[in-house]
Amino acid sequence: MLHVWIDTDPGIDDSVALGAAFKHRDSLDILGISTVAGNQTIEKVTTNALYLTRLFGADDIPVYKGANAPLARASHSAGHIHGEFGLGPIKPEMFTDNFSSLNAVDGMKKAFFALPDGEKATILPIGPLTNIALLLKTYPEVKDKIEKIVFMGGSLSCGNVTSLAEFNVWHDPEAAHIVLKSGLKLVMCGLDLTMKCTLPEEYIGRIRSEYLLRMEKNEEHKTLQTLFDMLKFYLESPAYRDKREVAMHDVCTVLYLLYPELFHGEMHAVDVYLSDDICRGLTYRLDTPYSDYGDKYEPNVLVLNGAENTRFRDVVMETLLRY
Ligand code: RIB
Ligand code: CA
Repeated sequence: MLHVWIDTDPGIDDSVALGAAFKHRDSLDILGISTVAGNQTIEKVTTNALYLTRLFGADDIPVYKGANAPLARASHSAGHIHGEFGLGPIKPEMFTDNFSSLNAVDGMKKAFFALPDGEKATILPIGPLTNIALLLKTYPEVKDKIEKIVFMGGSLSCGNVTSLAEFNVWHDPEAAHIVLKSGLKLVMCGLDLTMKCTLPEEYIGRIRSEYLLRMEKNEEHKTLQTLFDMLKFYLESPAYRDKREVAMHDVCTVLYLLYPELFHGEMHAVDVYLSDDICRGLTYRLDTPYSDYGDKYEPNVLVLNGAENTRFRDVVMETLLRY
């Protein structure tokens, strides 16, 4: 059983990642969910996390509210992609209860140190890395209880918030730098991988066909209908409306834990630009293949850059259709 903590900014693709994780609790011991400002404000993403634990039948998993802004910059939501409230057309009631009195950092610290001796947690950050950086700076001793960090973020090939940078790293580049330099075992599910891990329009259509079928048979269909409504919104967003397929960024972290054989990548020495210009949040390789310049840099990240796409799509669909 893998002890797992998910740090998230739900977020439509975050919702698919959470839904997939909650359907694999036979393999994943989900210690907690923490929220971080990113796709939407901390109030909205925390509301969404509570809503999603209920929607997916996982409301026994505690939710911890985290940072409301990056370490050293203003927050920038992505409402044009994820909607005014972060879940496409869905507007959950603003939370009034049910998230922990502990903040994200203290929630992680408490959960990780409560693990038996010799057992460690794997952290899946699928939003900006603000909470993780705060955890490592506040309680550096917690590193001994962290197996690895499998994060959705960064890119060695393209950008999605600017032409150079991926949103999660761009939103809080200082936090990303702290994590990249932490010395912990890191697996980067960046755009090099996630822009290839897509759900085409017809797959989203299959979710609709399935919930309509269940509706006809008076069977439970609300979860699937909600998933369809969110994915349809995502498909029609400026990021995907012309491509007619959506990048399933965040669920790559979950599937990497469950089916690592689906993915491939390379070890590289990676760091991030902390400037305020077009290079903000650009993640780049320090190691170079053809010169001695790179020799001074020890690889610090496994950068995933490909997956067996058909099997990826099948696993995502099979998991979602189990709701
Ligand atoms: O760049 C993609 C990432 O930014 C994903 O985590 C998505 O949810 C947004 O947060
Ligand atoms: Ca996210």
